[in-house]
Amino acid sequence: MPETMNKLEDQYAAALLDSIRGIGESALQQAYELGRRALTEGLGVLDMAAMYHKALAAVLSLASTQEERTLMLRAAVSFFVESLSPFEMTHRGFRETNTALRRLNQTLEEESKRIAHALHDEAGQLLASVHLALEEVAGKLPPAREHLEKVKGLLDQIEGQLRRLSHELRPTILDDLGLLPALKFLAEGVAARTGLLITVEGEPEPSLSPLLETTLYRIVQEAFTNVTRHAKASQVSITIHRNPQSVRCSVRDNGVGFDVSTVLARTGGRGLGLIGIRERLNSLGGSFSILSNLGQGTELVITIPHMNPPEA
Ligand SMILES: Nc1ncnc2c1ncn2[C@@H]1O[C@H](COP(=O)(O)OP(=O)(O)O)[C@@H](O)[C@H]1O
Ligand SMILES: [Mg+2]
Repeated sequence: MPETMNKLEDQYAAALLDSIRGIGESALQQAYELGRRALTEGLGVLDMAAMYHKALAAVLSLASTQEERTLMLRAAVSFFVESLSPFEMTHRGFRETNTALRRLNQTLEEESKRIAHALHDEAGQLLASVHLALEEVAGKLPPAREHLEKVKGLLDQIEGQLRRLSHELRPTILDDLGLLPALKFLAEGVAARTGLLITVEGEPEPSLSPLLETTLYRIVQEAFTNVTRHAKASQVSITIHRNPQSVRCSVRDNGVGFDVSTVLARTGGRGLGLIGIRERLNSLGGSFSILSNLGQGTELVITIPHMNPPEA
């Protein structure tokens, strides 16, 4: 890095001089190009400011009069701004991505609501009419009654599962009973479907904001999905703890673990789960960390302050 940095600094100073001497348009293009290279090489805005400062000092020392210096300073400004514009564009891109993710989360939330209603109401009603139709068949074909009882038993099971899934999707239990019971309900469902042994512990929480509760619920839901998909674990434990300033939630599994830095550094990868978690937390001023070692399980720790900053 120091070597490339030196090279970049020299080129930056040379291009700045060109620009001041009025070689104009192409010098500005060079400023942009140098900014883009600095960005790819991992330099930040502060490094750029330092580099500019150094280059400017060198260039100004060539001036012989105060007037010349003033002209140089004026010309240098647009060069500097141009060399920063790749940073500005990246920053803007980041903000736009964040906004898009927030919208995506809202859409997902609405979509879950819709599917939950469809499962609960529409599929529920269809099943009810199947029950009625079976009754009719049983009346007409008495010998079939025994078989039909079995079919009805199965239908009841399907109905129960649909109801459970719809409640997990749209956790009205959150509004009615709060976070801890809702997480216990979710955990029971996941345990029944996957065979995982899941414990949920924490103090009953009377006063977390609905947004904070929904956020934690969705994050734990994603964490369960990850454990089921990737961890090959047999146990998961969830703990919720309220500190004076923040709520801390931990989801720990005893599965295969993974290399966190590699996964987090992966750009353009497929996984949206962790990114979604980060976005949900961003809007609440919260953060998460992952502790994981190959073969030693994974712990996801989420921290959210109580005093929520105003929504951006
Ligand atoms: N509990 C876990 N155990 C093992 N690996 C995990 C766990 N959680 C996440 N990972 C790893 O992190 C990656 C990124 O997770 P995520 O962003 O949710 O994307 P996705 O689940 O869609 O792959 C996963 O592909 C997986 O390799
Ligand atoms: Mg995932």
